[in-house]
Amino acid sequence: MAATSVVVLDRGNNTTCTINLHGATVVSWRVNNQEQLFVSKQAVFDGKKPIRGGIPFVFPQFGPWTFGPQHGFARIIRWNLEKAPERLASGDVEAIFSLMDTDFTRSMWNYSFRLTYRLILREKELHFNIAIYNPSKDLTFSFNMLLHTYFKVPDVRRCQITGLHGSTFVDKTREGAMYQEGRDVVTICEWTDRIYQNTPQEHIITNVVSGRKMRIQKYNFPDTVVWNPWIDKAKEMSDFGDDEYPNMICIEAGHVSSPVILLPGTAFEASQILQVM
Ligand SMILES: *[C@@H]1O[C@H](CO)[C@@H](O)[C@H](O)[C@H]1NC(C)=O
Repeated sequence: MAATSVVVLDRGNNTTCTINLHGATVVSWRVNNQEQLFVSKQAVFDGKKPIRGGIPFVFPQFGPWTFGPQHGFARIIRWNLEKAPERLASGDVEAIFSLMDTDFTRSMWNYSFRLTYRLILREKELHFNIAIYNPSKDLTFSFNMLLHTYFKVPDVRRCQITGLHGSTFVDKTREGAMYQEGRDVVTICEWTDRIYQNTPQEHIITNVVSGRKMRIQKYNFPDTVVWNPWIDKAKEMSDFGDDEYPNMICIEAGHVSSPVILLPGTAFEASQILQVM
């Protein structure tokens, strides 16, 4: 099963991106042979559980869900390969994945939808273009969407995150209390689980792999989630190593603190660009 479940974009120069069709989860992004994403050594690839690491696709729910699994169904079902990897005139490589409603998705969320996820691998960038269409004639639906990106870092305590100063955030480690970020750059030295609201389009994370910087640009994703489980929460996760928390940081672009409301016959688009600086 594993062999046919994985799609590889290969740009040459040991620059590749690997997507597991289970959840259309990006499980590897190598730039000049350097892995940029964290995937837990304990991650389970059983085609059922969400993959612990890389970039799980969160939809149509963020967080616990009355009608289905935590963070929705998109990260636990097999997506279609709409367009196999193809080299563009620029030398960049593109692939397109898609997801439509099925009996399984309708059992949790009774709407028809068409979701496309286009990935473009450039020399030092990975582009994500998402479009969702509501084909119904009369039903409006609402949803959350988020790219749950796990960056690989040598030591999370040495990372600084820009672009959060002044933003309001929900602190899930303090029963959802709301605060305003007073720091110019955010650092992490404890269990962190925050939804920053209405953040700017760009964040930079320092001290990622090889001491480089990572730029995140996002469009139509108003929120930025910052997460690290730290020691105790890491121990509670069976698919995450007890000692792995220093080597990852989740900086997640999403539309989660308010829902996207999609009228019949309309589409919503959002995108993200990751760039190794
Ligand atoms: C979904 O809604 C349609 C009506 O719009 C209904 O006929 C169908 O039984 C519903 N399916 C589920 C799984 O609830």
